[in-house]
Amino acid sequence: MESVQAIKQRFGIIGNDPKLNRSIEKAIQVAPTDISVLVTGESGVGKESIPKIIHQLSHRKHGKYIAVNCGAIPEGTIDSELFGHEKGAFTGATNTREGYFEVADGGTIFLDEVGELPLTTQVRLLRVLENGEFIKVGSSKVQKTDVRIVAATNVNMFEAIKKEKFREDLFYRLSTIDIHLPPLRERKEDIHLLFRKFASDFALKYKMPTIKLTDDAVEVLLKHRWNGNIRQLRNVAEQISVLEHTRTISAATLKGYLPSEGDNLPAIIKTSKSDSDFSSEREILYKVLFDMKSDLNDLKKLTMELMKNENAHDVQKKNESLIQKIYGDEEAEDYEDSIEDMEVLSIPEKMSQLSDAIDESNDKYHFAEEVEEEETLSLHDKELELIKKSLERHQGKRKLAAAELGISERTLYRKIKQFDL
Ligand SMILES: Nc1ncnc2c1ncn2[C@@H]1O[C@H](COP(=O)(O)OP(=O)(O)O)[C@@H](O)[C@H]1O
Ligand SMILES: [Mg+2]
Repeated sequence: MESVQAIKQRFGIIGNDPKLNRSIEKAIQVAPTDISVLVTGESGVGKESIPKIIHQLSHRKHGKYIAVNCGAIPEGTIDSELFGHEKGAFTGATNTREGYFEVADGGTIFLDEVGELPLTTQVRLLRVLENGEFIKVGSSKVQKTDVRIVAATNVNMFEAIKKEKFREDLFYRLSTIDIHLPPLRERKEDIHLLFRKFASDFALKYKMPTIKLTDDAVEVLLKHRWNGNIRQLRNVAEQISVLEHTRTISAATLKGYLPSEGDNLPAIIKTSKSDSDFSSEREILYKVLFDMKSDLNDLKKLTMELMKNENAHDVQKKNESLIQKIYGDEEAEDYEDSIEDMEVLSIPEKMSQLSDAIDESNDKYHFAEEVEEEETLSLHDKELELIKKSLERHQGKRKLAAAELGISERTLYRKIKQFDL
C-alpha cells in the first residue's frame, strides 16, 4: 500500500495536518473496495483530490473516471446526462444517448455537490447504487452497470434531509464511508506552508522573484478565517504575486487582499427571522419619527424667535446650540448664508409674507381652487381674530399687542389699516 506521503506527492497535496493525513489514509484504505464514499468539507478544502486518489488506487484505475458537478447541470437535463435517453424521449432527443452511468461502466463517477440533485434523480441514483440497475429516460428497458460512486458535498446533509431536500436512505447509502476534510482555519500549521508553495508556483509561472511575508503578515495570515479555504489562499497568493511591486509583503499590504473581519464572521442564524426583522424596522421608524418631532419643535422655537426679533444675527447668536442641533456642522454655513439673505427682508414684514407665501403656493394647486380660497380666507380670518383679541387684551395698546403677536408695531399698524379695525 502506498504511503500517505507518497500519495500527497503524487496528487500535489500540501500539508501535514493530522486530520488531513487521516483523511488521505482513509481514502487509501477504502480505494480497493467498491464501497461508496462521501467526501465532506467546506468549499475549497480540496475535496476533489479524494475521488481521484480512490479511483487511481482501485482496480478500476484503467476504467473511466467521470466527475459530474450536480449543481451545474439544469434540473431538466440531469437525468438524461446521468442515465441517458431514448430517441424521441423529449423534444430535441433526436438520437439515443448514453449517460455517464453507461459510459463509466467499470470505472468511477464522482458526484460533486451531490446535495443539489433533484429528488427524482435521487430515486434513480438510489436504485443504481443498490443493484446497479438504471433505465434510460424514455425507455422501459432496465440496464445494468458497474460503477463506483464517490460523492462530495459542502452542505449540511442532515439539514437537507430535515428539509426533505435529500433522501435519508440515499444519504446512508452514499456515506458508507465519510471522509471529512478540515477547513483551513483548523489547519494553522499548514497555512503558511501552502502560501509559500503557491507563492513559489506563481513566481515560476509569472517569471518573477518569489514574494515573502514579514512576520507580522504571517500573523495576519494565520489569524484570518479563510472562508474560501485553500482556493481563497491560492487566489490571494496569485493576486499579490502579480500586483505588488515589492516582494516583501507587509501585514498592511496583505490585509488589503483579505475581506474585512466582519465578512468573515459566521452568519448569525435567526430563528424567527421575520419577527426580529420587523421589530428592528419598527424601532428604526420610531426613532426617525421621534427625531423628526424633536427637529420640528426646535424649528418652531427658532421660527418664533425670528418672528419676534428684528435682528437675525442676534437670533443666530442666542440660538447657536439649537441651530447646531437642527442643521449640524456641515449645514451651519448654509444656514449663515440663508440668514444673510433674510436680512434683506425686514423682519416685521414676515407675518404678511408668510401668508403671501401660502397664497402663492396655493396658486399652484389649481385642481383644488375652492378649498384653496377657503383656506386663504380662513387664514386671514384667523390673523384678524388674533390681532383683535390681542388688542382687546391690552386695551388697544399696540406695543404690547405687537409684542404678544411677535410682530413689529409698524406691521401691526398696517394690519389694523388693512383689516379696517
Ligand atoms: N492540500 C492541498 N494542497 C495544494 N493545493 C490544494 C490542496 N487542497 C486543495 N488545493 C487546491 O485548492 C483548490 C480547491 O480545491 P478543490 O478540491 O476544488 O476544493 P473543493 O472541491 O473542496 O471545493 C484547487 O485548486 C486545489 O488544487
Ligand atoms: Mg469542488
